[in-house]
Amino acid sequence: MHKIIGEMQAYYDRRAPVFDASMGYDSIQMVEQLAPVIKLLKTKLEHKRVLEVGCGPCFWTSFVSETARTILATDFNESTLEQARQKNLNWEKIRLEVADAYDLSSVPGKFDGAFAVDWFAHVPQSRVHDFLVGFHKKLEHNSRVVFCDQLPAAHSLTGMFDKDGNHIQERTLPDGSRVRIIKNYFTDQEITTIFSRYSNEIEIRRFPEIYRIVVSYDYDSISTET
Ligand SMILES: C[S@@+](CC[C@H](N)C(=O)[O-])C[C@H]1O[C@@H](n2cnc3c(N)ncnc32)[C@H](O)[C@@H]1O
Repeated sequence: MHKIIGEMQAYYDRRAPVFDASMGYDSIQMVEQLAPVIKLLKTKLEHKRVLEVGCGPCFWTSFVSETARTILATDFNESTLEQARQKNLNWEKIRLEVADAYDLSSVPGKFDGAFAVDWFAHVPQSRVHDFLVGFHKKLEHNSRVVFCDQLPAAHSLTGMFDKDGNHIQERTLPDGSRVRIIKNYFTDQEITTIFSRYSNEIEIRRFPEIYRIVVSYDYDSISTET
């Protein structure tokens, strides 16, 4: 396993109690700003039986559950799910489960929708297809897939890359300790190259004013078995 994958897991474990606040997700203004992205995710996943990976404290899960049929929200870290459990979520639709996005074999059931927010950017480029193949295995033919990530602000670009070309950032936890994480930002061309193995039609929507990108496609299992 990449050492940095373990370091990122530990980082988000420790960040869980302050995650929402650190993202501004506890602010109504932030929710208002994100409204176009929230709306897009809700529309894309409407009526779907959804698998979410890297759900964190379920900020996005909560909105998507307004239109989805059901959501199995998963995260590697129990600490993030613990934060979610304290929220007044739509528990008739949402189930929480600990799961490693790189090994979803123990996750029960099949889904016709899947999404992740601020997850794909953390996947080392050498693990991208590994991850996607395992992720898609949980999906029925023609399932809707949505990845939402951040666009870089000026301060996000560090100029640091690991030997595999992953963009590296340094983050600081509330106790002052510093952690290295992977945060990749892709061009439309790179996104098309990654996902065109899995679908003929990839939609890329950028929301530069709120630093967000949403990539979506219908996973075509027939043309993509590798
Ligand atoms: C940037 S946070 C995003 C959380 C949430 N999606 C959101 O946007 O509010 C990344 C999440 O991925 C989780 N994570 C890290 N490594 C993981 C792995 N191998 N499998 C599943 N989740 C993982 C972390 O615990 C963290 O909750």
